[in-house]
Amino acid sequence: MDGETAADLVQLRREFERFLMRYKFGMEEISTKLEILRQEFGLLDGHNPIERIEHRLKSMDGILEKAARKGIEPSFEALREHVHDIAGVRVTCSFVSDVRRIVDLLTSQDDITVVAVKDYISEPKPNGYRSLHVILDVPVFLSGGSEAVRVEVQFRTIAMDLWASLEHKTYYKYETKVPQHLLDGLAEAAEEAARLDATMERLHHEVRSYRPDGDERMPRRRPAVRV
Ligand code: GTP
Ligand code: MG
Repeated sequence: MDGETAADLVQLRREFERFLMRYKFGMEEISTKLEILRQEFGLLDGHNPIERIEHRLKSMDGILEKAARKGIEPSFEALREHVHDIAGVRVTCSFVSDVRRIVDLLTSQDDITVVAVKDYISEPKPNGYRSLHVILDVPVFLSGGSEAVRVEVQFRTIAMDLWASLEHKTYYKYETKVPQHLLDGLAEAAEEAARLDATMERLHHEVRSYRPDGDERMPRRRPAVRV
């Protein structure tokens, strides 16, 4: 390798790092927005709709591998346009109604532009995968002005998350040659997880709407302390 080629490579690497830096900031902006909602609900509502917020930035290798796999030209412009999950945020909620509520609260914010919504909760994937994905643009204010940064946000319940991580591990271990009985087992587990979500949702609403003094069906309890 001559000196000029080496200098070009160093330059390209720097440009890639700057390219990735914008995604890191965009991802952090979204995480902060979600963290604000989480803390506000924690203080005011007594029920916190967000269990967990995680984020990850795709590595340079991961981006180039995905571009090659999907036939995307490895230019910054094409990567910006066609790879939507360079910045990824995952939100885990207790209940499906919380997922929908948080999606609405985030996507209705003034500075957010929704690019696409993939609702795999209403329409699960054939293997049983359920989650709601929102691809959005968020502005990041840099020294040279504001730039819209694309972020993929995945919303799911705890049960969906448990299923997705087991399914992911299974595929990783068997390198896509997963035995049929495991695929069937996963499909069945996905249905069971959805049933659990539906039952938990129903119980949650009943418990939340219960008013000890306003509901005649429930026996009145004596106050613990007489005054
Ligand atoms: P990718 O190219 O893999 O990013 O998929 P896509 O562009 O077709 O979008 P899709 O919404 O299908 O998937 C985006 C992301 O959702 C994936 O990278 C995974 O993190 C997650 N995902 C989608 N399908 C599955 C699935 O069947 N199982 C698991 N465990 N995760 C999934
Ligand atoms: Mg992906």
